[in-house]
Amino acid sequence: MLVTGSDILVPARAGKYGVASFNTNNMEITQAIIHTAERLRSPVMVQMSEGAIKYGGQDLANIVKDLASRASVPVALHLDHGSSYASALNAIKMGFTSVMIDASHHQFAENMAETKKVVEAAHAMGITVEAELGRLGGIEEHIVVDEKDAFLTDPEEAVRFVEGTGVDYLAIAIGTSHGAYKGKGRPFIDQERIGKIGGLLGIPLVAHGSSGVPAEIVQRFRDAGGEIGEAAGIADEDLELACQHGIAKVNVDTDLRLASTVGIREALKANPKEFDPRKIFGAARDVMSQVIEHKMRVLGSVGKA
Ligand code: G3H
Ligand code: 13P
Ligand code: ZN
Repeated sequence: MLVTGSDILVPARAGKYGVASFNTNNMEITQAIIHTAERLRSPVMVQMSEGAIKYGGQDLANIVKDLASRASVPVALHLDHGSSYASALNAIKMGFTSVMIDASHHQFAENMAETKKVVEAAHAMGITVEAELGRLGGIEEHIVVDEKDAFLTDPEEAVRFVEGTGVDYLAIAIGTSHGAYKGKGRPFIDQERIGKIGGLLGIPLVAHGSSGVPAEIVQRFRDAGGEIGEAAGIADEDLELACQHGIAKVNVDTDLRLASTVGIREALKANPKEFDPRKIFGAARDVMSQVIEHKMRVLGSVGKA
């Protein structure tokens, strides 16, 4: 069933497990996400960025909504990194059940004002809202506290922000970053900060940049002819711990980008004569399903629906 983000995330926060919010850009990605969620009895969020809306538009949103409404588990359709009030409203008109307003690059007061405006409009239509406070970006574990504080989310500010905006779930900057290169070795994630913010705020917290960039997938990508540098993602154990302390929504895009490309490359490498799209994109869907299953098991959302 198609539900709001809060319908999925409030129980996750209370039950100390995480729910993945996977980015989609086409039918095969959407099928892999929702069918795997059903097979594992897991709630799930499917998110479209503004780029995905430009690429797939209402056609893609309708595919997500159709699969979600026919699914036997809770699914939300979420706007990822909405850049303005107009963008959030447009997503709501398209039938999204959850929207993110990302005004985190603005000063605190402006971020608050923009978020509050979106919250008021969205709530009037029964839609729940994510906002972001702090700057996303990989940081090294050993850097001094002052430098970390300069862009990671400040716990006291987070409380003022949530009280002032009425936002439903909050993305916090904890050292993670978007993409396949999150740092050397085991990228740093500020567990202490998550614990502090989770202790002060009862609402679900959101971790962006949470792909694991699994070594096995990276190796298969290379073996099938892909080129990739020193890729590294967030360790499974780190995400598991983060969900114990307040993270309830876990954003994943890069892992499915890698998995789908691995499926396509392997299918074409194994059979260079192949040109049936079902064999090629079907292979992508299969590899994505494996990666999605792994993530759901790590976050503890399996069997929660
Ligand atoms: O946070 C960014 C997501 O990975 C979406 O990326 O804007 O290229 O669709 P995109
Ligand atoms: P990854 O690049 O780690 O998959 O993060 C995606 C994300 O945060 C989308 O909002
Ligand atoms: Zn993000």
